[in-house]
Amino acid sequence: MEVPHLKILDEKNKTLRLTSKEVTFPLSNEDKKRIQDIITYLTMSQIEEYYTKYNLRPGMGLAFIQLGIPKNIFVIVEEVDEEKFQNYVIINPKMISHSEELVYIGEGEGCLSVNREVEGIVPRYARMRISYQDENGEKKEIRVREEVSVAFQHEMDHLNGILFVDKIDKKNPFKDQDKMREI
Ligand code: NI
Repeated sequence: MEVPHLKILDEKNKTLRLTSKEVTFPLSNEDKKRIQDIITYLTMSQIEEYYTKYNLRPGMGLAFIQLGIPKNIFVIVEEVDEEKFQNYVIINPKMISHSEELVYIGEGEGCLSVNREVEGIVPRYARMRISYQDENGEKKEIRVREEVSVAFQHEMDHLNGILFVDKIDKKNPFKDQDKMREI
């Protein structure tokens, strides 16, 4: 298996700050290919044999804007069991509702565009429901929770030009930690 070549933009690149645009259907073959490449890349980045061989940083999500393309598309690849993966291809997402409860990732969030250690917590909704379109343009809804909910919010932020580091309080990176649940 060859790792697809993806040029992932670094946080210093201002393109990451663009607001991504609504996608129309049908998708171009180029975008379909890009989606498949992202799925392969994210999957391989979570398998030891490949991330060692190709020196990949493990990641579970990537938005099109991280490849420089301002379209409302992101992909999440969740490891549900040992080397068993579930893919989410999410196009034109809209949040419908969310929990009151907030959570944060204890070991800190990561991003394939942020190539440095970042301390601090990012408040996220524990659960949410979103509407979106799949690769064929079919309208769907999904309810997500815990780590997947965090990953969805992280990627939806990318579509609005927001990086997780923006959400960490600069003066007090662990602000309000006691008001949220660690996951
Ligand atoms: Ni990211």
